[in-house]
Amino acid sequence: MPSLIRFLSLAATLAVSSAVTISEINGKQFLSPLNGQTVTNVSGIITAKGPDGLWIRSTTPDRDARTSESIYVFGRTFGANLTVGDSIVVGGKVLEYRSNKDYIYLTELSAPVLVQKVSSGNAAKPLVIGKDTSDPPTEQFSKLDGGDVFAVPNNVSQISVANPVLEPKKYGLDFWEALTGELVTVRKPRAIAKPNSFGDTWVVGDWKVSGKNGRGGLTMTKKDANPETIIIGSPLDGTANPKNTKLGDTLSEITGIVTYAFGFYRILPTTAIKVTNSATPLLPSATKLLSNGKCDGLTFGAYNVENLAPTSAHMGAIASHIVDYLKSPDVMFLQEVQDDNGPTNDAIVSANLTLTTLIQAIATAGGPTYAFASIDPVDDKDGGQPGGNIRVAYLYKPSLVRLYKPNAGSSIESTEVLAGPTLKYNPGRIDPTNAAWTASRKPLVAQWEVITKNGKGAGRFFTVDVHFGSKGGSSSIQGDARPPVNGGVADRLAQATLTANFVKSILDQDKNARIITAGDFNEFTFVQPLTTYTSISKLQDLDAVAGVKDVERYTYLFDMSSQQLDHMFVSKALTKKAKYEHVHINTWVEFAAQISDHDPSVAQLDVCA
Ligand SMILES: *[C@@H]1O[C@H](CO)[C@@H](O)[C@H](O)[C@H]1NC(C)=O
Ligand SMILES: *[C@@H]1O[C@H](CO)[C@@H](O)[C@H](O)[C@H]1NC(C)=O
Ligand SMILES: *[C@@H]1O[C@H](CO)[C@@H](O)[C@H](O)[C@H]1NC(C)=O
Ligand SMILES: *[C@@H]1O[C@H](CO)[C@@H](O)[C@H](O)[C@H]1NC(C)=O
Repeated sequence: MPSLIRFLSLAATLAVSSAVTISEINGKQFLSPLNGQTVTNVSGIITAKGPDGLWIRSTTPDRDARTSESIYVFGRTFGANLTVGDSIVVGGKVLEYRSNKDYIYLTELSAPVLVQKVSSGNAAKPLVIGKDTSDPPTEQFSKLDGGDVFAVPNNVSQISVANPVLEPKKYGLDFWEALTGELVTVRKPRAIAKPNSFGDTWVVGDWKVSGKNGRGGLTMTKKDANPETIIIGSPLDGTANPKNTKLGDTLSEITGIVTYAFGFYRILPTTAIKVTNSATPLLPSATKLLSNGKCDGLTFGAYNVENLAPTSAHMGAIASHIVDYLKSPDVMFLQEVQDDNGPTNDAIVSANLTLTTLIQAIATAGGPTYAFASIDPVDDKDGGQPGGNIRVAYLYKPSLVRLYKPNAGSSIESTEVLAGPTLKYNPGRIDPTNAAWTASRKPLVAQWEVITKNGKGAGRFFTVDVHFGSKGGSSSIQGDARPPVNGGVADRLAQATLTANFVKSILDQDKNARIITAGDFNEFTFVQPLTTYTSISKLQDLDAVAGVKDVERYTYLFDMSSQQLDHMFVSKALTKKAKYEHVHINTWVEFAAQISDHDPSVAQLDVCA
């Protein structure tokens, strides 16, 4: 038997010049059943030409929505004497191509040979997405994700190995795969993110979507990372897409070819996309959450200030955001504060100059004069931009709040919860020498009290300022690995577990303790490890507590989704009357105008309830 099988597969490889249709080449799975075989007499009409090849649509289509009727014919000189509308008969070798092992393969006809040009001037009418096709699925990407694109473990299977039969009405990857090579039109397109440095722009058209937020973006929600979207890549006519497109911009109708490249299904438009209108107002309004200057109405801000150093060009703008948009919260949780000479890679770790420069800039912008609390990291041990020594830090109004029994810990001293509960080191770092924090920021814990009129302390509370490990190393959400690889998830799980257990040790002593943990968790609330974080710590997601609508929970744009990496979690004692807002000062503006890659947030809490 083995030799017979070998004989048969050898025969298949050698079989040349079978006449096939384009749908037979594409097949009803991700990989072509004819991969590697030489075919001839493939008939099609040229729908578009690109710099390295052209696309043809079958003249003998089947009625199966799973089999694309179009294909890319790869060959630099092949199209020299051919033009859009020509009906041709062509032969070549079926090839599955990907430029990276973590991508999905694209089926192409390579080494093309023209058998015959049949006629010219044939119409090449695009398929209107959502009209000539079904609507793109709105929730799931692939059957192989097992119902949850965020599930762990990651990369349990690969598209290239499992090669599932396409279900274009159910799964987003299958929907776009079943259209690869096809000339399509997106009606009423809307930008749902900012373009990348090449001008590639994520859009949706006039089809059904889920997760639409007030600005026109699509917010990621539990088990839903927006497969109904498509990125618009480089135009086929050599023009360039604009780089200043904004979240929610409306665009003129887009016609182009569906393909897969650089980890994503994409449409290569026949010409550059054009913005027709922008969402208004152009800027968000300032927070409505104002401090009442007393313990029952304190405000807390949180802001990842993106590599802020004393000489940063964005120093003044960060200060204005804090004053004008966050209305100078009583306590600020900052992330990504760099040391006093920023990315210069030397032994300096102090951020005093960075923080005093920011405090001065805030005062200049009309804000209060803040004090700061920070613990320097060990040089080069907390990750981030080399030499920058980023850390988390607090700003606070010293006339209103003060550290309770201050006793700052060092870089390597671990604070603990003592009887009271109080802190061994205040402020202090959580288990800073634990391997979970290798090349990552250690959370900064502090215990505070509100200063009353007569100078006494009232309303004691704890804060934990966090910046968990990044998602770097993730695979594409439209890549081969299913579910996709969530980079750094194991680190974040260890970090979340340590932080949650620390919070638990406070609540074990005093179940009414007032605790706020805030910052850049680099993760979504409905995903491991934040599900573990809330289940161990018993803290509550402030978005849920304050009733922020699911689709308005975003502080960051990545790929096709508006998403939330920045959170506040509070203990039960702080849930009464809690209010919370995300201020979309960076996600709404064009790339060149954004000051940080994250939006800041503001909460108002009663810390003396
Ligand atoms: C391909 O088409 C040519 C011309 O129409 C014909 O002569 C030839 O037999 C066809 N080849 C196959 C394998 O069908
Ligand atoms: C295009 O046509 C010219 C003139 O007939 C011919 O010399 C050339 O080889 C053709 N090129 C291709 C790629 O077929
Ligand atoms: C997923 O797993 C496969 C098989 O072990 C491996 O070849 C591939 O590199 C992995 N992909 C990623 C993105 O880690
Ligand atoms: C930074 O400021 C803190 C608190 O104000 C102070 O204790 C520390 O000595 C300062 N460090 C440097 C290097 O100036």
